[in-house]
Amino acid sequence: MTTLIRNGRIITASEDYIADIFIEDEKIKTIGSDLTIKADLILDATGKMVFPGGIDPHVHLDMPFMGTYSSDNYETGTRAALFGGTTMVIDFILQKQGNSLQSALDEWRSRSDNNCLGDYSFHIAVTDFNPSTKKEIKKFIEEEGITSFKTFMAYKGALMIDDRQMIGLMEEVKQHGGMVTVHATNGDMIDYLVEKHRTAGKLSPLYHYLSQPEVTEAEASERFADLASYTGCPGYIVHLTCEGALNAVRNATKRNQHILVETCIQYLVLDASLYEKDFDGAKWVMSPPLRQKKDQETLWAGINQGIVKVVATDHCPFKWEQKKMGEKDFSKIPNGHPAIEHRMELLFSEGVQKGKISINKFVEVSCTNPAKIFGMFPRKGTIGIGSDADLVIFDPEEEHIISAASHHMNVDYSAYEGWKLKGKIKTVLLRGTVAIDNNNCKLEKGYGQFIKREKVSGNI
Ligand code: URP
Ligand code: ZN
Ligand code: ZN
Repeated sequence: MTTLIRNGRIITASEDYIADIFIEDEKIKTIGSDLTIKADLILDATGKMVFPGGIDPHVHLDMPFMGTYSSDNYETGTRAALFGGTTMVIDFILQKQGNSLQSALDEWRSRSDNNCLGDYSFHIAVTDFNPSTKKEIKKFIEEEGITSFKTFMAYKGALMIDDRQMIGLMEEVKQHGGMVTVHATNGDMIDYLVEKHRTAGKLSPLYHYLSQPEVTEAEASERFADLASYTGCPGYIVHLTCEGALNAVRNATKRNQHILVETCIQYLVLDASLYEKDFDGAKWVMSPPLRQKKDQETLWAGINQGIVKVVATDHCPFKWEQKKMGEKDFSKIPNGHPAIEHRMELLFSEGVQKGKISINKFVEVSCTNPAKIFGMFPRKGTIGIGSDADLVIFDPEEEHIISAASHHMNVDYSAYEGWKLKGKIKTVLLRGTVAIDNNNCKLEKGYGQFIKREKVSGNI
């Protein structure tokens, strides 16, 4: 199977030019002007942009969490991702405390195997680091191609590890060429504030926000950076939201440390005023919570300064019935919001169209850096000869409106209902095959491949 994409404006993290792309089987074979090669399929991209397929390195599909499961499974979640121009996701496996990492991997595979439309990988969350877990790290990196180890400094009793476990894990992961990633918030402090609010009868979603003030994230981010500096382990902070936390990372650069930072689209475009809507605020109950306008400014600046390397989603959707588990108590609202489908278009519309980031930065933070950081570059994350033909043909002028009535995620509301965006995904190719064409999905579940990742250094 061969495909020729004609006359597109090709955008990578560093280039912007008009050319044709010739694809054979799954790979990009040739890029050039006015190519005369015959192809089975010709796609005219005149007047359109062509990006690499997006990579969302932070999603939770079919995940057991807070007494329920996230509502997108591997089929619906990766399909919705493709509609939004994201051709690959990295999902999270959660070790059960007391059990092995391998048993968690087996459990997650039983849900994901043969069910994905898009390509995928896993991070493994280490929730119980002990001598037997320690022995499993090397195998995950060298045999499974799972090179990133997620840690939680919050969610005590289920996911949180203490600093002693963190240091042990970092030393082991560093030795074998992996990376430690972190949900960096101070779990004990949050638990104290949650209990304080509940005891005072303060039970609405607003108190979820008030139980996780900026300092809880700033403190944990600084501590994580300190431990990573001490052990020399590559470190990556997921879903960083605020000025205090980013300044902790900026401080770490003064000792020549390089902590990698991810933020998520919601922290760039939404703010905490949404928690003032009584129980409707449950739609945005996530951890960390949405922050202030000044934090949005910090995050956009962090992207342009090259400190915030990735814009992900932390896609963790729950239907309204599930959110209602916390109708009488905010601490029982399943944490997370749906965004996997909207990351690229929101970032383009709010970031590029509004002049906050350049078009190359857009590709860098949503495609290229995730591939580089997580050991998949240049196979993924760019448009180059020999790379996988994961491509998005994009109309930068087309306007459209986000709505639960038209999105493809398995959730019965939208966290962005009524948002008017400028820029629309028209065609998506995954490894050379048309996945999305004019709002139609052409792939079946099972097309998506598990991508084994390479060892990482923390330098990109
Ligand atoms: O609220 C969130 N973020 N839910 C998913 C789990 C996590 O902490 O990433
Ligand atoms: Zn988290
Ligand atoms: Zn998450």
